[in-house]
Amino acid sequence: MHTFQPYPIDLIEMNPFTKIGKEWALVTAGDKEKANTMTVSWGGVGVLWGKNVVYIFIRDSRYTKEFIDSHEFFSLSFLGEEYRESLNYCGSHSGRNEDKFHKAALTPAFRHSIPYPDEANLVLLCRKMAAVPITEDTFIDPQIMEKWYADHDMHTMYVGEIIDAMAR
Ligand SMILES: Cc1cc2nc3c(=O)[nH]c(=O)nc-3n(C[C@H](O)[C@H](O)[C@H](O)COP(=O)(O)O)c2cc1C
Repeated sequence: MHTFQPYPIDLIEMNPFTKIGKEWALVTAGDKEKANTMTVSWGGVGVLWGKNVVYIFIRDSRYTKEFIDSHEFFSLSFLGEEYRESLNYCGSHSGRNEDKFHKAALTPAFRHSIPYPDEANLVLLCRKMAAVPITEDTFIDPQIMEKWYADHDMHTMYVGEIIDAMAR
């Protein structure tokens, strides 16, 4: 197990475009009995409802969605380039069929009972504030539905308050 240090949020310097969009992240939810993780490259960080927040977009079909929906907390974790294979794995296999942590050579760890991969170098622990279904009628640009939702596997946007950040 790695030792993480608290990372005051004011000190975090990250470019969300490269950090989330190019390096990717793992969204993890569940509890000590069962947890699941998946790769995301859509989302952001910012300020909303007076809180520092992350927002992520999870399609209906994702097994991880069941864990996010049934728990109050989730984590958003960033891993070094040496874990690209694990990130690829978690983005192309479903935990419905296997122990994905184990298969992706990742180790579940917990803080405040919130699961995250121990291999991460930056972890944002989040309390769910809102789950916003993205529906067809919300699109102003009609191409979005055509391009991204031909199969109607819609996203839900989760907004999470960052309650703790830690790094190593
Ligand atoms: C680079 C990358 C980024 C991804 N980003 C997202 C995302 O933002 N939202 C989403 O719902 N799925 C995303 N996926 C797909 C899920 O990670 C993938 O379907 C995963 O197998 C779901 O696992 P689960 O069924 O165990 O939850 C992404 C996949 C990759 C490879």
